[in-house]
Amino acid sequence: MAAPVTRVGILLSGRGSNMMALVEQASGYEIALVASDKPDAAGIGWARKHGLATFFQSPKGIPKADYEAAIDAALDANEVEIIALAGYMRLLSDDFVARWRGKIINIHPSLLPKYKGLDTHARAIEAGDAVAGCSVHVVTEELDGGEVLGQAEVPILPGDTPDTLATRVLAAEHRLYPRVLAEFCAR
Ligand code: GAR
Repeated sequence: MAAPVTRVGILLSGRGSNMMALVEQASGYEIALVASDKPDAAGIGWARKHGLATFFQSPKGIPKADYEAAIDAALDANEVEIIALAGYMRLLSDDFVARWRGKIINIHPSLLPKYKGLDTHARAIEAGDAVAGCSVHVVTEELDGGEVLGQAEVPILPGDTPDTLATRVLAAEHRLYPRVLAEFCAR
């Protein structure tokens, strides 16, 4: 009998290049839903074109609990088991995290526990670090604070700007995330 395939829901806010990597390199999991908090997120357009189930709910003008309840309903309707955040730039409430405890993972563009939060590449260059990178971690109530599941290192080169470094780290993200998600779904 074939091994069960885990149904993954992706939440994103923008470009969606990590979502594309997760779709294109899917193995041991399948993308059951791509949801966005932005109607014009490029990622959601790509997902739609590629025949994936998509969902959009604006968080504007409604209580956060209602916004998250709508996402929850869409995830349930699509029988999602694991949530992968892929450039989802909105903080999830403690209640949402508790409901999905241990079942949400995220990719973050730094070598955690270094540089939680925003502007990771500028901060790594400013600090004079020789190495940057990305981390996939379990989402908990603490921002970028859950168990680190995997990391990839990228050198910081002389003359790097936050943009040139971000491009190099992003390529590493696209290799790391599908592998770590597959391992996470299998454990
Ligand atoms: C990625 O670099 C991801 O690591 C980062 O946003 C970018 C999204 O790009 N995520 C965070 O900073 C989360 N705190 P993408 O939309 O092309 O995947």
